[in-house]
Amino acid sequence: GFSWTLPDHPKLPKGKTVALVVLDGWGEANADKYNCIHVAQTPVMDSLKNGAPERWRLVKAHGTAVGLPSEDDMGNSEVGHNALGAGRIFAQGAKLVDLALASGKIYDGEGFNYIKECFDKGTLHLIGLLSDGGVHSRLDQVQLLLKGASERGAKRIRVHILTDGRDVLDGSSVGFVETLESDLSQLRDKGIDARIASGGGRMYVTMDRYENDWDVVKRGWDAQVLGEAPYKFQNAVEAVKTLRAETKASDQYLPPFVIVDESGKSVGPVVDGDAVVTFNFRADRMVMLAKALEYADFDKFDRVRVPKIRYAGMLQYDGELKLPSHYLVSPPEIERTSGEYLVKNGVRTFACSETVKFGHVTFFWNGNRSGYFDETKEEYVEIPSDIGITFNVKPNMKALEIAEKARDAILSGKFDQVRVNLPNGDMVGHTGDIEATVVACKAADEAVKIILDAIEQVGGIYLVTADHGNAEDMVKRNKSGQPLLDKNGGIQILTSHTLQPVPVAIGGPGLHPGVKFRSDIQTPGLANVAATVMNFHGFEAPADYEPTLIEVVDN
Ligand code: 3PG
Ligand code: CO
Repeated sequence: GFSWTLPDHPKLPKGKTVALVVLDGWGEANADKYNCIHVAQTPVMDSLKNGAPERWRLVKAHGTAVGLPSEDDMGNSEVGHNALGAGRIFAQGAKLVDLALASGKIYDGEGFNYIKECFDKGTLHLIGLLSDGGVHSRLDQVQLLLKGASERGAKRIRVHILTDGRDVLDGSSVGFVETLESDLSQLRDKGIDARIASGGGRMYVTMDRYENDWDVVKRGWDAQVLGEAPYKFQNAVEAVKTLRAETKASDQYLPPFVIVDESGKSVGPVVDGDAVVTFNFRADRMVMLAKALEYADFDKFDRVRVPKIRYAGMLQYDGELKLPSHYLVSPPEIERTSGEYLVKNGVRTFACSETVKFGHVTFFWNGNRSGYFDETKEEYVEIPSDIGITFNVKPNMKALEIAEKARDAILSGKFDQVRVNLPNGDMVGHTGDIEATVVACKAADEAVKIILDAIEQVGGIYLVTADHGNAEDMVKRNKSGQPLLDKNGGIQILTSHTLQPVPVAIGGPGLHPGVKFRSDIQTPGLANVAATVMNFHGFEAPADYEPTLIEVVDN
């Protein structure tokens, strides 16, 4: 039968303190001036890279190695931390939605049948991120869903768009809105009353995460549900163009707007009898809206009016909370994660980050599961993130505070595993501010030093890695790697993640001297890290985990 007990590692001892450091958005790329990691002073990461070659290597962090549909899919924090924590590769949301749409199974499921009940008398509202970034959502999936729903009886459809500019180039939202408008006009030709009803930039409207700033969700609620916003337009393309020009906001930060008719009345508030689908497949930035849409008891902001609707998520966003209770596609079942195994084998665990990445080292790490496995053996510490600023303004973020918490946890002797996420490279990289990203990389490097020094003091082991690339490449490039210029001769800033591999560095006085990276695994990815970490705790990984990166040679 099944057992949680892990076999002892034949050569590696138990009881070492292991520090796991995830540098968010820290890939490996050629050294040039758009590689902020290269430009920044990063002596600690440099010394790991230039140290023993058998203790530093690269692993894949994008595409099929992390369960994404294709090798063109850049990595992201959700799939990266899932793979790091789960030790296996699961087909991820993007892929599962593709399959369900291609087979048509999405329309036979409980979720679709539930919302379909409203098609006769009510409006179908689709709310989500409008881009082809493939991190939270994908435009082609929305297009298929619009087609499928209209063929199955939806007569009145309203789309509430969130503009991107973070997983895709800034300014690209205009094109995505134009594409959607043309699709909707084709539906109108078929007699379906289909329109865009509201919009706003993802970082300012709706897509907050980990309860960092509920005002973001409230701004979305007001526009999407109540039909109220500071800006009113009769056309969404005009809205995006005008707001970009007049407020100087980037796609990520566009203020909320509603589309109104000639009399100034909003065309698509959500009312009793309507159906709502949030079409993002990724959880972190939809959970808060899902709560506002689903919970009867809700006190995070005044919803003013709570329409009686049928609501479904593209996926279920939180398996533990069963939120939302209706969904179109079943999420990956990521069970038996390394966190759960280790805790059940007595490994006491400390995890920490600041709010914007806290769920990454806890919820995502544990297979999209909130809460502790065993409260007596785990402590998760969240350091509040700054709110109301973009992180290029404070590129150090809370790196120092996170490192100090980790240091204290390591020195306390109360934990066997101390796990952190250092957000700087990613969060500042997403702003597209190159100078600030250089500062961010330096801050992350200094934080790593504090943690490695503590590991040195207690005779422990470290593993430093990253979840995907970002800060190592800040410019959009052509196929041969040359920076792409815009029509004014400026470079096209790359705010998104990359396809680059990420480093894994291991060491520390507690690491058996014979430990080195194996050379027989051809193209390992992030999922190979979990078995490696289990080894460092003195265990063999379960047989179905991706193989460990290391071997122990006797010398
Ligand atoms: C975001 O949600 O901020 C980006 O779309 C992806 O970033 P992350 O995967 O690093 O969180
Ligand atoms: Co990111």
